[in-house]
Amino acid sequence: MLYTLIWVWVLLPIWAQASQEHFNRNDNSKQLQFEKYSFNRFELKHYRETVKDLFHFAHENYLQKGYPYDELRPIACIPKTRNFEDPDDEITNDVLGNFSVTLVDSLTTLAVMNDRPKFAEMVKLIEDTFPNKFNIDSTVQVFETTIRIVGGLISAHLYATDPSKKVYLGEEYKGSLLQLAKDMADRLLPSYLTLTGLPVPRINLRSKFDPISVESVSENNVAAMVSPIFEFTMLSYLTLDSKYADVTRYAMNKTWALRTELQLLPMSFNPQSGQCYTPISGVGASIDSFYEYALKGAILFDDDGLLKIWQDAYNSLNTNSRADWFYTNVQSTTGQLQTLWIDSLSAFFPGLQVLAGDVEDAILKHMLTLKLWNTFGGVPERWDFQTLAAFEKKKEFTPEDIKSFVPLEWYPLRPEFVESTYFLYRATRDPFYLNVGVAILESLQTRFKHECGFGGFQDVTTGEPQDRMETFILSETLKYLYLLFDVDNELHSTRDNVVFSTEAHPMWLTPKMINNYEQNKYFNDTVYREHLRACRKRDRKSALHENERTFMGGKLLRFAKSLFTADQEPTKDISTHAQPEPEEQPDASKPSVYEQMCFPVDFAAPHTDKPQWLHSHLLSHFDRLFEIDRRYNSTLIRPKHMQNVVPMELQRGFYEKWAHDKFAHSRPMPSTEALEIVLDLPGECQLIRLPDGSIHRETLGGRNKIRLEKIEPGKIDVYGRILDPQLFVSARCKDVFKSTCDKIDRLYTPSLLYRATVLNGINLPADANLTINRKTVFKTQREENTFRDLFGQNSYNQLMLECTPIINMLMQ
Ligand SMILES: *[C@@H]1O[C@H](CO)[C@@H](O)[C@H](O)[C@H]1NC(C)=O
Ligand SMILES: *[C@@H]1O[C@H](CO)[C@@H](O)[C@H](O)[C@H]1NC(C)=O
Ligand SMILES: *[C@@H]1O[C@H](CO)[C@@H](O)[C@H](O)[C@H]1NC(C)=O
Ligand SMILES: *[C@@H]1O[C@H](CO)[C@@H](O)[C@H](O)[C@H]1NC(C)=O
Ligand SMILES: *[C@@H]1O[C@H](CO)[C@@H](O)[C@H](O)[C@H]1NC(C)=O
Repeated sequence: MLYTLIWVWVLLPIWAQASQEHFNRNDNSKQLQFEKYSFNRFELKHYRETVKDLFHFAHENYLQKGYPYDELRPIACIPKTRNFEDPDDEITNDVLGNFSVTLVDSLTTLAVMNDRPKFAEMVKLIEDTFPNKFNIDSTVQVFETTIRIVGGLISAHLYATDPSKKVYLGEEYKGSLLQLAKDMADRLLPSYLTLTGLPVPRINLRSKFDPISVESVSENNVAAMVSPIFEFTMLSYLTLDSKYADVTRYAMNKTWALRTELQLLPMSFNPQSGQCYTPISGVGASIDSFYEYALKGAILFDDDGLLKIWQDAYNSLNTNSRADWFYTNVQSTTGQLQTLWIDSLSAFFPGLQVLAGDVEDAILKHMLTLKLWNTFGGVPERWDFQTLAAFEKKKEFTPEDIKSFVPLEWYPLRPEFVESTYFLYRATRDPFYLNVGVAILESLQTRFKHECGFGGFQDVTTGEPQDRMETFILSETLKYLYLLFDVDNELHSTRDNVVFSTEAHPMWLTPKMINNYEQNKYFNDTVYREHLRACRKRDRKSALHENERTFMGGKLLRFAKSLFTADQEPTKDISTHAQPEPEEQPDASKPSVYEQMCFPVDFAAPHTDKPQWLHSHLLSHFDRLFEIDRRYNSTLIRPKHMQNVVPMELQRGFYEKWAHDKFAHSRPMPSTEALEIVLDLPGECQLIRLPDGSIHRETLGGRNKIRLEKIEPGKIDVYGRILDPQLFVSARCKDVFKSTCDKIDRLYTPSLLYRATVLNGINLPADANLTINRKTVFKTQREENTFRDLFGQNSYNQLMLECTPIINMLMQ
C-alpha cells in the first residue's frame, strides 16, 4: 500500500530532472538563458547561503541575549520569558516552560545546514543546560512541548548517531539527547492517565496534576490529542520501550472513533469524558496535525491502520469541506458550511497533499496562500472570504475596513506557507516555487528582520511589527526555506524514508532500527499497562452504543445554497492576461547574484525568443490564475503599508517572465450560479479515475455531495465556455418534463438547466455523466420509486430538481 505514497516522491522529480537535462545537453546555446530563468546552481547557492546567514544572525543573538530563557525579543533585544508572576497565563506559559526552548527547537536546523561544529557545540550546551533534566516546576502544554522539545531532541539524536550524516558526532556523543527526550516524555505521559485514555492538554513537569485546575484541562483539541503519536512512537523505536507508542496509538484510535458518521472529527473534546465541545471540522487550527500525523505516521511506521484513517479522513474532507481554493470549516454531523473564514495554519495542507500524491489540488490551494501573502505581506491568522458588497464603490480603505475581513490580524512568521512551497517544489521542480521562496526571503531580509532577530506582524492591517521570535521561525520557517534552495541536501538523496515532524524535525528509521524494535521491544511499565487494560475494558462495555449508527439511505438531504455565486461579469478581455499593471522596474542599484558567477556572460541581453522550457510549466498551463483576485477581490485589499511594497505578484510582469505566451491564457470567470446537493443513496459510490484525468463511475451510490451549475444561455460555465442556446433546444420539447411538472406552464420553456460539475470534491470533466445504476443501487422497486418521485426523471433518463433537468445525471 505504501508504495503509492512513495512513488510520488520518486517519480515526479526524476521526470522533471530528466527533461531539464535533455535540454541542457542538446542545446548549449540556450543553456545559459535557461539557467537565468530557472535558477542555476550559483543562484541556488547564493540564496541558500543567505538563509544560513539569516539563521546564524538570529541564533547568535538568541545565545547572547536570550539564553537561557525561552525566547528572544527581536526588537527589544531582551529575553521573552515565562510569566512567572501569573502561572495561569496559559497563552504565554503553554509554550514557554523556562526550558530554553529556542535552543532545543533550533538544533536540527544546524544539522540540516550541515554545520557540524555549531551542532556539536549546541549539543554540549544542551547537556550543560539540563543537569537535572527537566525537573522544572512549570505547567506546560503537552502538545507544544512534545513537538518542540521531544521532537527536536529525538531528531537531533538521529543526526548525531547516523554515520551517513554530515553532522554525525561519533564517539564524542553518548546519547544525552535521547535521555533528555525520554525524561521529558516520561513527564508528559501521565497526561494520558484519564478515564478515556485521551490526554489532558496540560501537565506540570515536576508535580504532574498537582497545581492544575479542572478548567484548564477540561477541553482538548483533536490535534493535541493525537499528535504526540509521531514523536512518542519514534521514542519507542529508539528506547525499545513500546509504552510511548502504545499509549499514544490507543489515543489516536480512540479519537478517530469519536468521528461522526460523515467520517469527520469535531475539533475538540473533553478528554475526561469524550464529550464533544466544538462540533465543527476543517483542516486549520485545532485539527491540522491530526491529518498530518495520520499520513506521516503511516509512512514512517509503515502502519496500515493509520493509512486507512488518513484515507477515510481525506476522502471525507474532499466530499464535505473542499472548495475550489481552500478547505472550509463544516459542521461535522451534517457537512454544512459553518464558517466563512480560513486559518493561517491551514496553509500546511498543500504540503501534505503533495505527500499524499494530490499535487494538482495542492497547486491550487497553495495559490490562495500566495495571494494572501501578496495582499497582506504575510498570512493573516484568520481571513474572512465573505464577499463584501459594501466595498464595491470605495477607493480608500482604512485599517478598520480591512479588519472586517481579517478577524485575527497577526502573522507571527508561521512556517506553513514556506513548507508547502518547499513540498511543491520537490514534487514539481517548477522554478515558480523557487521564485516564491526568493520573495519570502526578501521579505525576511527587509521587513521582518529587526535588531536582534526576526519578528512577524502584530497586525497585518497596519504593518505593526511583533516583538516576538517564536521558536518555529528558526526551527521551521528558515529550515524549509533553506531546504528549498538546497536541492542536493542529504535529506533529498537518502534511502530512508525521511518524514518531517509537524515542527519540521526530520525523522527516519533504518531497517536495522525497525528490526531491533520488532525483536526486542517491551512494555513492562505496570502503570500504563494497567491503564490501557482498564480503558479497553470500558470500551467493550460501551461497544453496544457504537453499532447504533444508522443508515440514512433514500433520503435526500437538501441544503442547496448559492455558495459559489459569481460576483461579477467577466471582463471583455478574457483570453489574455489580467488588467495590465504598470511594469515593474528592476532595481538597478541592487547587486546582482550574477556578479558572483565565475564565467562572464551578458545576462542583460533581452530574451526575445523565449523557448517553452525556460518557463514555468505550471504557470504556462495554469488557466485559473486570476480567478482568486476576481472572486475574492473585496476581501483581498492591500493595506496601506503594503501599497509601496512590490511583492511577488501574479501580475503581468511576473506572468510574462514566468509563463509562455503561447500557452498562457486565463480562463474567464464563470458567471453561472452554483448550488450543492447531498444525495444519500443505498450502496457505494464507485469511481475510477482514468489516466487522462477523467472520471468513470460504475454507479452512484452512498453519500455524495454534488455541485450543480445553473446553466443559462449566454453565461460562461465553469469550463470557461459561453453557454450555447442550442443546449436548450431539446429542453423546449414537452417530453423533457415529467407529467407532474406539466401543470406548471412556465416550465415548458426553461431558461435554465442544471449540470453536475463537482462530485465529492473531484472536478468533473466537461462532458462527464454521473449515472445511477438503478439495478445496483436500489434493492426494491419501492426504493426506486420513492427516489424517482423525489427527483423526477424525464424521457432522456435525466434526473430533475424541481422540474429542471440535470443534464448529466442519468438514471439507467
Ligand atoms: C528559570 O530559568 C532560569 C534560567 O535557567 C533560572 O535561573 C530560574 O531560576 C528559573 N525560574 C524558575 C521560576 O524556575
Ligand atoms: C489501533 O487500531 C488498529 C486498527 O486500526 C489496531 O491494529 C491497533 O492494535 C490499535 N492500537 C491500539 C494501541 O489500540
Ligand atoms: C523491562 O524490560 C526491560 C527489557 O526486558 C528490562 O531491561 C527492564 O529492566 C524491565 N523493567 C522493569 C521495571 O521490569
Ligand atoms: C471588484 O471587482 C469589481 C468588478 O471588476 C469592481 O467593480 C470592484 O470595484 C472590485 N472591488 C474591489 C474592492 O476592488
Ligand atoms: C453523456 O450522456 C449523454 C446523453 O445520454 C450522451 O450523449 C453522452 O455521450 C454521454 N457522455 C459521455 C462522456 O459518455
